[in-house]
Amino acid sequence: MGKIPHQFSAVDELDALQNSLNQALNAVRDELDVHRLPKLSNFALEPHPLDEPTFICPPRLYEARRLALATIGQLKSLLQRPYDKVVEQSTAVYQTACLDLVVKTGILDKLAESEDCASGLSVLTLQNEFDMDSMKMTTVLRYLAAQGWLRETTEGAFTLTRPALELRHGRNGRKWIMTEGKPKVAMALMQQLSHPNRAWRYSRQADQTAYQIAFNTDMTLFAWLKQRPDELRQWASSVQSLGDSHSCSILNDFQWEKFAKRTLVDVGGGQGNMTISLAEMLPEATFVIQDLEEVIPLAEQNIRNRLQDPAIISRISVEVHDFFDPQPRIGDEYVFMLRHILHDWPDHACVKILANLAVAGGIKSKILIVDAVIAPCVTSTTQSKANHGPVIDDLRGISEYRPLAAPLYIPGNFGACAVMPLALGVHMMGVFNALERTMNEWTRLINEAGLRIVTVHALRGMVSIIECEVIGC
Ligand SMILES: C[S@@+](CC[C@H](N)C(=O)[O-])C[C@H]1O[C@@H](n2cnc3c(N)ncnc32)[C@H](O)[C@@H]1O
Repeated sequence: MGKIPHQFSAVDELDALQNSLNQALNAVRDELDVHRLPKLSNFALEPHPLDEPTFICPPRLYEARRLALATIGQLKSLLQRPYDKVVEQSTAVYQTACLDLVVKTGILDKLAESEDCASGLSVLTLQNEFDMDSMKMTTVLRYLAAQGWLRETTEGAFTLTRPALELRHGRNGRKWIMTEGKPKVAMALMQQLSHPNRAWRYSRQADQTAYQIAFNTDMTLFAWLKQRPDELRQWASSVQSLGDSHSCSILNDFQWEKFAKRTLVDVGGGQGNMTISLAEMLPEATFVIQDLEEVIPLAEQNIRNRLQDPAIISRISVEVHDFFDPQPRIGDEYVFMLRHILHDWPDHACVKILANLAVAGGIKSKILIVDAVIAPCVTSTTQSKANHGPVIDDLRGISEYRPLAAPLYIPGNFGACAVMPLALGVHMMGVFNALERTMNEWTRLINEAGLRIVTVHALRGMVSIIECEVIGC
């Protein structure tokens, strides 16, 4: 047996993980039955209700799935040969490239349109359609099939799997993947972090990042997009998709009713989807969407597209406001919301943005930060150090969401489940010198801005809501 540090639990790691996985899968099965949900299948021809952004996942099912995925992540590391993990990881860039290729050439749409989903389409049919070498296409498609994106029905014929349905037109996954540039930024990260100029290496400026290196520009991403309306539209749509894929939990896991008669200001509100949903939910509240000049027409258009009822439309105003300038909405009646804003900015900029709200807000004002609160990836390796809190069966039948404590050998951030927000954190660093923050980091900058945290609301999604108020009011 390999040498294991002595402080590790007497419980064998494989036993503990198997136990967690069994508990998680049993709870998933049980919850599907209790809530009369269809069985899960990778090969379903339509998305499962669990895949829909509007589905309000029962808390125990949500946590059981999280625990299962975290455990599978740990088990993969435990069981996979480290050399194979290295090679798989260093070639993972091809997964991004192949998925991009399949979406952007139209192959995915062709597979989606195919009438015979059971047999799929052969690469020869695809060669005729796209004038692309069938041998090369097979290499790409089979690689994606092994990753779960496609199913090879017979040798050389492919069809979409359930995860790939998310890449069809109109789905949030499609909106997200269409934004270009991540691989270029990723490849310039090394130059950002080891830049010969020390000021660059330690910079917190949005114009000294991998983004400028990759695109050979002095402009920040926002300045670059301002000059390219098409790219701006695509970028706004992908950001919006991220918000939309989590808005259900934002709307359901927070008691918005307490602001039923207030004015909610969506600072940096983008296309305004969060405001639109809240306006539908709170019939007596009024709303203000603030953003930069070039984004305002997108918000106005989106309101026209999504809302027909003049009574709702009349409660939403849209205005140009740079959040680095003093906030024009002053006084008690305002509740300020910032969704996916602060993770775009380094600390000093966040303090400035929040301080403007601290100056404008009154005693009853609330500032709601809707962003990820990341947990460190610390893993309990002994029972005594394991997090104590609810276990999966404590969540049976509850309707209010409560996150599970990470069991033995599962990282505090649920490892594999934290990869998405952490990857976005790396991306934020690469394009803005910004970051996703832990609770300690949030507390520090919120207090520095003259605010205090009232409560942190955990949600069934990637983000939490940090509810703050003005210090000294
Ligand atoms: C990541 S998006 C979030 C949009 C929206 N809150 C949501 O959740 O969908 C960031 C938004 O901040 C806006 N923004 C960037 N710099 C700004 C500034 N200085 N003042 C106001 N808005 C700004 C962008 O135009 C964009 O709409």
